[in-house]
Amino acid sequence: EKQNGDELQKSFKEMISTLPKGKSWGFPGDHYQYQGFWFVPPFLQGALLAQQQFQALPTDIILCSSLRTGTAWLKSLTFATITRTLYDDSTTPLLSKMPHDVVPLMEFDHAQFSTNRHRGIPLLATHLPYSFLPRSIIDSGCKLIYICRDPKDTFVSLYHFIARHNKSQNTQPIQLDEALELFHEGVCSFGPYWDHVLGYWKASLERPDKLMFLKYEDLVEDTVLHIKKIAEFMGYPFSSEEQQQNVPENIVKMCSFDNLSGLEVNKTGKHRQGQGNLGMENNIFFRKGKVGDWKNYLTTEMAQRLDQRTMQKLSGSGLSL
Ligand code: A3P
Repeated sequence: EKQNGDELQKSFKEMISTLPKGKSWGFPGDHYQYQGFWFVPPFLQGALLAQQQFQALPTDIILCSSLRTGTAWLKSLTFATITRTLYDDSTTPLLSKMPHDVVPLMEFDHAQFSTNRHRGIPLLATHLPYSFLPRSIIDSGCKLIYICRDPKDTFVSLYHFIARHNKSQNTQPIQLDEALELFHEGVCSFGPYWDHVLGYWKASLERPDKLMFLKYEDLVEDTVLHIKKIAEFMGYPFSSEEQQQNVPENIVKMCSFDNLSGLEVNKTGKHRQGQGNLGMENNIFFRKGKVGDWKNYLTTEMAQRLDQRTMQKLSGSGLSL
């Protein structure tokens, strides 16, 4: 087994050495471009393993997103909705685990060992582009929920996330204008961001019963309305009795930015401890949770540059961001 693992590792290293390389924003290792998208090596390796080995179940619900678009929030909302009869406000695992530790990442946590996962709670997450999803996800007919966000806020959120991670690792932080240039050219994990969004957008038009497409901004505007729609889509609709008892409202309150970011586990806990430089402090995942925070960081020119890119990339798709 060990030898097999070593050989796999060696052939993966040989394979990535042939790929185009891009700057990593100060994360350990470079980005590599594979089939149109940029990855850091552990995620590319996870993606390829998942493509070979991951077995989806028809009952799975897979939360899909690029980085910094509201993944942790979507995880907490869907988890709380699905487990609402198992736990109450004082027993939910969301009080003692951060959302990323409650809903595992398919290409990382279950690429190889998909038989081990918790069958009672069918949630999994992925950052993979739509075109990278393991065949079994499409063939099984399981449901997918995608969340995206204004590229300017996504960029600002990613920039801060990486700057904080760099600081904790004592590595040189990337400058904002340099990061913007890389993001604009698509060189960021799972980028180009617009291509990631478009892959899921097109699939949601083709398979609306299987893929729900969400925007962070819409979720902020009316979270209760959206959690009701999400619950319905997942096959866990709120009954009229539950609605009368304000169950959706209570879930939204529990999963609010203020509540989750104030929990001890999310202030002082750690994520992926023991996994080398993938280990991070939980509080890095909670910053402001606001729409339009880009205005505090981007010059008008920078914002226009990203807006132009967005218009050019999304033109003709019917989607606006
Ligand atoms: P900001 O950096 O703009 O604050 P992801 O989970 O995909 O990494 O997305 C991270 C973004 O979602 C961050 O945005 C983070 O603060 C915000 N976020 C985290 N938890 C949230 C919550 N419960 N409600 C709203 N936004 C949340």
